Amino acid sequence: MPTEMPGDRADFLKIEGLGKTYPGSAEPVFDSVNVDLAQGEFVCIIGHSGCGKTTILNVLAGLEKASVGHVFMDGREVTGPGLERGVVFQGHALMPWLSVRSNIAFAVRSRWPEWSAAQVQQQVERFVDMVGLAGAIDKKPSALSGGMKQRVGIARAFAIQPRMLLLDEPFGALDALTRGTIQDELLRICAQTRQTVFMITHDVDEAILLADRILLMSNGPQARVAEIVRNTLPRSRQRATLHHDPQYYRIRNHLVDFLVERSKALSHGRAPTHPPEVSPGLDPEPPTNVTPLRRIA
Ligand SMILES: Nc1ncnc2c1ncn2[C@@H]1O[C@H](COP(=O)(O)OP(=O)(O)O)[C@@H](O)[C@H]1O
Ligand SMILES: [Mg+2]
Repeated sequence: MPTEMPGDRADFLKIEGLGKTYPGSAEPVFDSVNVDLAQGEFVCIIGHSGCGKTTILNVLAGLEKASVGHVFMDGREVTGPGLERGVVFQGHALMPWLSVRSNIAFAVRSRWPEWSAAQVQQQVERFVDMVGLAGAIDKKPSALSGGMKQRVGIARAFAIQPRMLLLDEPFGALDALTRGTIQDELLRICAQTRQTVFMITHDVDEAILLADRILLMSNGPQARVAEIVRNTLPRSRQRATLHHDPQYYRIRNHLVDFLVERSKALSHGRAPTHPPEVSPGLDPEPPTNVTPLRRIA
C-alpha cells in the first residue's frame, strides 16, 4: 500500500519551468524543472555532482535568481530570502565568536523581534535540547566537534520554525555513526513538527530512510528532474530495520541504476519536462522460474 501523503496542500511549493544558464555559458545547467511539494512532505533530491542541485536549492531559498521559471510557496512567488524558509548549508555557517545559545538567539530575535528576552531563551533552549546539546549550550563553536556544529545549524534552522526547511548535503562531512544519530533525530523532529523539507543528498540510503519522495536529476548540461520515486516503505521505517523490508532493495536498486546508467543518457534535455512518478518498491517479485544464485553454487 502506498505511503499516505502527509500534506494538507498538494501544491504547497510549486517549481514551474525552472532553468538556469550562467553568464558566458552556451547551455543551461538545468531547464524545465517542474515539481510540486506537499506541506509536511520530506523530499530528497539526488543527482551527479554539477547537475545543479545546489543552484535549485539556492533559488528556493531566494538567494539566487533562476534564468527562467518561477517558484511559488503558498501561492506567493519566491523573490528573495525570507524567514519562512530555513537553510542549513553544508558548512554550518555559525558565528565563531558567539556561543551556541547566542548563535541561535540571534536567529530567533530576527524572526520575532517583539519577543522578550525570556521568550527568546525559552525557544533557544527548547531547540538546543531537541538536538541533544543542552550540555554545550554556552560553548563556542570552536569547542564543538563537526557533528555538534551541524546539530547547532539544524537547531538554529528549526528554532525559527520555518514553513520550509532547505538542507544542502547537511551530513556529508560527518562520520557514519554521527550521521546515523542525526538522521534519526531529524526523522523524529520532522514527525513531531510535520516540517516540510527539501534536502540534497548523494547518499541513496539516507534518501530512502528520510524521504517520502526522491527526485532523480539527470546529468547536465540541460539537466532535469527526470523521475520522481515514491518511497512506499512505511513512514515508521527505522535505520536499524530498513534493510529487512524487500521493498528497500527494489527502491535502492532503482536509484543506483538511475545514477549509474540512466542519468547520463538523459542529459542534454533528453529527460521529460514533467517527471513521471514511479513506485519501484511495489514492483512484483521476479518470476519464480529464475534460478536463485545460491542454487547455482
Ligand atoms: N556562480 C556560478 N557561476 C558559473 N557557474 C556556476 C556557478 N555556480 C555553479 N556553477 C556551475 O553550475 C553547475 C551546477 O552547480 P551546482 O548547482 O553547485 O551543482 P550540484 O549542487 O548539483 O553539484 C556546475 O557546473 C557549476 O560549475
Ligand atoms: Mg551542491
